[in-house]
Amino acid sequence: MPAALPWTRTKALQVAAVVLLLHSDQSGAADLARGRVIATRWCSECHVTGPGQQRGSDNVPTFSEINKSEKFDAARLSAFLSAPQHSRMPDLSLTRAEIADLAAYIKSQGH
Ligand code: HEC
Repeated sequence: MPAALPWTRTKALQVAAVVLLLHSDQSGAADLARGRVIATRWCSECHVTGPGQQRGSDNVPTFSEINKSEKFDAARLSAFLSAPQHSRMPDLSLTRAEIADLAAYIKSQGH
């Protein structure tokens, strides 16, 4: 049945496109915009996460202050967020990709 061929090809292309999309989503470099969305959603309750935000909780460092700390980098953020029981922060169970995005976003603050 010759008519089946183009359909199969279209389908295969669609599948390939979806696979490609999923892949680029996971393996892409840290994404600032995604980091900001995560920060606004999960961190802004306590931290001042960006210039648009008026205030967070008292005695919680702003992201701009965190970025100014010389010790701050992605590895440190990852270690910090993976062991929240050592701080007053809740366990947010973020993925590595989310933490990388957050680190990129925090690094963009306060300059
Ligand atoms: C329920 C409140 C709360 C939420 C939500 C919260 N934090 Fe915090 N965070 C704190 C407090 C309080 C501190 C002060 C230091 C401590 O308790 O360890 C802190 C400290 C930090 C520090 C360490 C600063 C330093 O160098 O000492 C980082 C980094 C940080 N938070 C990142 C985040 C990120 C990223 C998110 C969102 C995914 C987040 N926090 C969500 C309360 C919160």
